[in-house]
Amino acid sequence: MRRTIIAGNWKMNGTIGETESLIRGLLAGKSDNPKATVMVAPPYTALFPASKLLEGSHIALGAQDMSEHEVGAYTAEISAQMLLTVGVSYVILGHSERRQYHAETDSLVNAKTKRALDAGLTPVVCIGETLEQREAGKTEAVVGAQVDGTLKGFTPDQLAKIVIAYEPVWAIGTGKTATPEMAEAVHVFVRRKLAALDSKAAETMPILYGGSMKAANASGLLGQPNIDGGLVGGASLKADEFIGIINAV
Ligand code: 13P
Repeated sequence: MRRTIIAGNWKMNGTIGETESLIRGLLAGKSDNPKATVMVAPPYTALFPASKLLEGSHIALGAQDMSEHEVGAYTAEISAQMLLTVGVSYVILGHSERRQYHAETDSLVNAKTKRALDAGLTPVVCIGETLEQREAGKTEAVVGAQVDGTLKGFTPDQLAKIVIAYEPVWAIGTGKTATPEMAEAVHVFVRRKLAALDSKAAETMPILYGGSMKAANASGLLGQPNIDGGLVGGASLKADEFIGIINAV
């Protein structure tokens, strides 16, 4: 049995006050579904107040990125240890916006993933093709190379602790969602790639879908056998909408 995870990536949205009111909205509503692990990833500056509000609740705390380094002269970087001290247990790595605007590569994401695992954080490793790549028929080549590059060198025990998020870049923030069948086809392909690394990890690793997921389309996507949850951007910024996705599981 694979875990189902519904995760909110709040990106660069939310002052401390706005983050607190969104969390209060989630805690006041029906955001608890025994069939799903719920996680939210507010901006760094709101992590500590968020962790205070989430303490003892069913919602786990995630960060949106972290450094591949342990400690030292890396101005503005945030380490795994720092995240642990503010109550973070998940970290999103290699998001397409990090790849696009900060030139993050698979090998950097691989190093960050290793650092996260060493620290005891659960990495949520993002992969996904651009529209241009999809239209050129390169989806499997791109996504396959991302799986190989980001997960390189991990033992079966390490692989068992990783979560993958398939986020087609053309579906992020565009309102264009992959159809459940399109997403499922890529998830099946990713699971086959994982099987080449370790057959057990391929069976147990949650593969989340991300890209314009909302309450109205969540059940179709989450109903697919290889879609094990969602990494939600825009729709996770509204408590009611995010709760709708949680309850679509
Ligand atoms: P949207 O849900 O806004 O398309 O964003 C998806 C995403 O990038 C989550 O990481």
